[in-house]
Amino acid sequence: MDYRELYRIAEDAAKNAYTPYSHFNVGAALLTAGGKVYTGVNVENSSYGATICAERTAFVKAISEGEREFTAIAVAAGDTPALPCGICRQFMAEFAPDIDVITGPMKEGEEGDGLQVRPLTKLLPEAFVL
Ligand code: THU
Repeated sequence: MDYRELYRIAEDAAKNAYTPYSHFNVGAALLTAGGKVYTGVNVENSSYGATICAERTAFVKAISEGEREFTAIAVAAGDTPALPCGICRQFMAEFAPDIDVITGPMKEGEEGDGLQVRPLTKLLPEAFVL
């Protein structure tokens, strides 16, 4: 799948984010090796530490449906270029150490439509492995 399309799915998913505390909506679209897409949003909690990020939501949905191989994840947060947090980087490295991470914001007409593609190994070199 085209990464622009994947990013648009992430943008669309962000509308479902539950963010009464930060009001910072994030959407993720996770592409499996088989071509299926699982979306995720951040789901906040009044006990802030219980919040889950959009990226981990997408992974948890996919893993719990039996998926194990992933090729790319797009992360959209409106006009802000949101890179995955440290916990999400480690979480993703468990299943997809070299997944492509696509971030925006998308600016159509610009080089690559404004999208950035980074392998997770660049965002988290030498990840912890048990
Ligand atoms: N958040 C994500 O969902 N993904 C990221 O990549 C960065 C941060 C969420 C967590 C929290 O709900 C809000 O953004 C502000 O930190």
